[in-house]
This record gives sequence, structure tokens and C-alpha cells, in this order.
Amino acid sequence: MSASSAKYGPDADKRKKVTTTDILSRKGGEKIVSVTAYDYSMAKLVDGAGVDVILVGDSLGMVVLGYPDTTRVTLDDMVHHTAAVSRAGTKALVVADLPFLTAGVSARDTIGNAGRLIREAGAEAVKLEGGLRIRDEIRALVDCQIPVMGHVGLTPQSVHALGGFKVQGRTREAADRVLRDAVAVQEGGAFSIVLEGIPSQLGERITRELDIPTIGIGAGPGCDGQVLVFHDMLHLFLDFTPKFAKVYADVGTATRDALESYRVEVRNGRFPGKDHCY
Ligand code: KIV
Repeated sequence: MSASSAKYGPDADKRKKVTTTDILSRKGGEKIVSVTAYDYSMAKLVDGAGVDVILVGDSLGMVVLGYPDTTRVTLDDMVHHTAAVSRAGTKALVVADLPFLTAGVSARDTIGNAGRLIREAGAEAVKLEGGLRIRDEIRALVDCQIPVMGHVGLTPQSVHALGGFKVQGRTREAADRVLRDAVAVQEGGAFSIVLEGIPSQLGERITRELDIPTIGIGAGPGCDGQVLVFHDMLHLFLDFTPKFAKVYADVGTATRDALESYRVEVRNGRFPGKDHCY
């Protein structure tokens, strides 16, 4: 059985379930692969490709719900989409985002909110944006047996405070600040951390300094893994494609072409044909 044939079809099911401790043990080893998914069918596709971590990201606010940024996403939105992903029964670890203001206000609220993602929606870990400021909240979640993935650098929920979606850590002081945040996330007890929108050199430096795996998005090749947004890598989000995202297949254009063919065939009477009638 070749490595690629194991990823698809019935053999894909023989993969071992990925756990948070598996991810932690990948530090400095085989690169961690993560992709976002927001519903049942997407989760099946991502899992069938042998991905390690499915992130139900609050990026769904932009690419699924059409908001200008992620600040309008609610906990109910996240529960709804995470539950759909969980129903796919994936081998990949399912991590769900705590959206804007559902973490970082009080530890008690954060635990309750994270609890909904685990209990109601079936997430296996939660992701929180922030560093030093939320170290104690991360510790409180971990103490309650809720595994945490951190997220520092360009944290999209801070879009208004940051003055836009801007690369972080460009100066020495700013780089030191991002590193301090990453260290705080580790001290809080997170099993991994997302590094977003920082210079590659800083991604490499933080990866070297931390004992937990780093998962980069616009943080260069030196991280312990990479994460991409499903819609970016398949060109399903037509408004823009971020510089850090590689388009692996132009499914957006293929989809539009298919829909156009359908329109033409309905209009000219070629659909439905013999094969599609009872
Ligand atoms: O919401 C999201 O999809 C994310 C990734 C970009 C890391 O946080």
C-alpha cells in the first residue's frame, strides 16, 4: 500500500485518531498539516486527504457568512458549524475557535464558552487569540481538562485595535513582544500555537524557542506545521486571496464554469437528458 493510497478511500479510515498529545509529540518532527472546515462535507474532504488538524476557524465569518472581518461571529455560529464538522467523525483532531469576546474577558465565561464548543458541538480542543493577557485563562481551561491551541501575531479578532490586517513583529521590539506572547501561551499550558502574519525569521525564532509545536499561516517555512483556510487554497472566496495562501486548485472558477454550463443546458433543453429521467 503506497502512502498516497492510504489517504483516500477505505484505507483512510484505518488511520489512527489524531489527539492533542499526538500533535504535541510532533514538535520538531513530521510537519503538522491543518486546514479549516466549516461543515460536514468539507470535513470529510479534508479528513480524506490525511490532514492532521481540522480547524473550525472563525474565518467562517468572512468566507461563509460574508462579514468584513471575524468580530461579528457569535458563539452560536461556532457551535452550529463545529457540530456539523464533528458529525463527520474525522480522524483529524477537531479544534474550534472561541470567537471575539467569548474569551479574554473573564476566566469563568471563557470556561463556559469553551465548554459549549466541547460538550454541545463535539470539538476536541479550542483555539484562543492572544498572549500574555490571556495566559491565566489558558491555564484555567487546561485545568478544566480543555485542551488549548494558542494564536499570536496577526490576531484577526484585534483588527480594529491593530489598525487593519497588518503583518506583526516587524521591528525588534514588536518581534520581542510576539515572542513574549508565544512564551506566555506555552506557560499557560497550550498544546500548540498558531503563528499568523509575522516575518519568516520571527516564525523560525519562536519555533526554536518553544517546546510546543508552532503552526504557521503567513509565518514562513520554519514552523512545525502549516494551516490554510479551505476557501483560500481552493479559490472559493472570490473577494481576495491573501499573499500567504497558495491556490492548490481553482475550484472557484471550475464551479462557476459548471454552473454556467447548467444554465446553458437548461435554457437550450439539453438538461435533463435521458440519463437523468425516470
Ligand atoms: O479563523 C481561522 O481560520 C484561523 C486560521 C487563519 C488560523 O484562525
